[in-house]
Amino acid sequence: MATKQDIRIACVMVGLPARGKTYISTKIRRYLTWLGIKTQVFNVGSYRQRIAGLNKPHTFFDANNSDAMNQRKEAAEAALKDMIQWFDKDKGAVAIYDATNGTRERRAWVHKQFTARGIEVLFIESLCDDEKVILDNIRDVKLSSPDYEGMNPDEATKDFVERIEHYKEFYETITEDDYTYIKLVDVGKQYIINKVHGYLESKIVYYLMNLHVRPKRIWFSRHGESMFNLEDKIGGDADLSPRGQMYADSLPKLIEKHLGDRPLTVWTSSMKRTIQTAKNLQYPKKHWKALDELNTGVCDGMTYQEIEEQYPEDFARRDEDKFNYRYRGGESYRDLVLRLEPVIMELERHENILIIAHQATIRCMYAYFMNLEHDELPYARIPLHTVIELVPRAYGCEEKLYKVDIEAVDTYRPKVPPRAAKDMKEPETSRIGASGEIADISLPVLPL
Ligand code: F6P
Repeated sequence: MATKQDIRIACVMVGLPARGKTYISTKIRRYLTWLGIKTQVFNVGSYRQRIAGLNKPHTFFDANNSDAMNQRKEAAEAALKDMIQWFDKDKGAVAIYDATNGTRERRAWVHKQFTARGIEVLFIESLCDDEKVILDNIRDVKLSSPDYEGMNPDEATKDFVERIEHYKEFYETITEDDYTYIKLVDVGKQYIINKVHGYLESKIVYYLMNLHVRPKRIWFSRHGESMFNLEDKIGGDADLSPRGQMYADSLPKLIEKHLGDRPLTVWTSSMKRTIQTAKNLQYPKKHWKALDELNTGVCDGMTYQEIEEQYPEDFARRDEDKFNYRYRGGESYRDLVLRLEPVIMELERHENILIIAHQATIRCMYAYFMNLEHDELPYARIPLHTVIELVPRAYGCEEKLYKVDIEAVDTYRPKVPPRAAKDMKEPETSRIGASGEIADISLPVLPL
């Protein structure tokens, strides 16, 4: 994955411990990476653990502990140095500096280091005074940190609360009005935005405004087996097969069993097979064109074998780089990610959603939640007659599969080993931009 060299943004986290900074950092990295923007998180806490060792009691974080303060400064500098190197050598686009950065002095230093090198700085402050949210966060993520390995959970919680007190003594919320920043107050109750300009910065800010931490579940299901699936044909707008119909009939019970009395919204594509699959579900429904299956252009309605015979070059190119290959007159997985970006944004805003869509569109959304690389994404296994449940957790998602006992064909085409270069004819047209070719992979999915 590559990106234009001129975009360099440092997202600098600000906030007391246990305010969800690492959660936010991880989310931004996952979202931007999915959009093909080279992004990395630099967590100063991990540098501190490497420099000073693990299992430090709260007294280590006392500002009067000068040895510890030196080690903490060293960690902050080492992370910042690596970050700058990453921008320069690895041509990164967005780096996230995950630390408390809780004083004006520290922020001035960080700001100067980055801006002196032409890197834009976006401060992201998370403010939260809700004791319950803080304690939940300590229990969910802090107690499993290497800092507290093997420690009694109550003692560890007490120690962490005292650690926070040390930071509170000197903490200054952002008031530097010449900086670009967003303040997130009490997980979504209020946002304060200052001097945000630039497309990517605004995109990050908009994304942050859509996040919430209320518990939720996301279910993905492909439509029931279709008549085209039975004939090995791709694309089209076919009806369900009799077995696909049986799957549609079995869905309400399965969903009810795992949903309980929680509210649910069902999203389908605009295609017959997903609408037919959802027809017995008694929940509010929305049909999204954006969820329609990958447009396979001139290959629509063909079998893989027919494509290989009639368009051998195209068939080989797709195997060579399935994410970037665009069907003649159709789409690539790369195009799909861009098409699905608004759906992801809506998914972040909502609570329980069941999405009934297609093999390729589900792969793209699944990759966002499960952090799959672009080259793995088009090969994710999304079998027919199976509901995938994802439950977002602190830094990732928990996954469960519910397979319904109704036979269906297998539409999975495994990755083929790369062909020898001599067997691959160069296409007559340019690699870039033309339909039926591989996209310019030096550009991110999101046009910057
Ligand atoms: O075969 C079912 C199907 O949904 C086709 O309509 C679509 O072209 C295909 O899956 C996508 O899968 P792949 O990218 O592996 O060809």
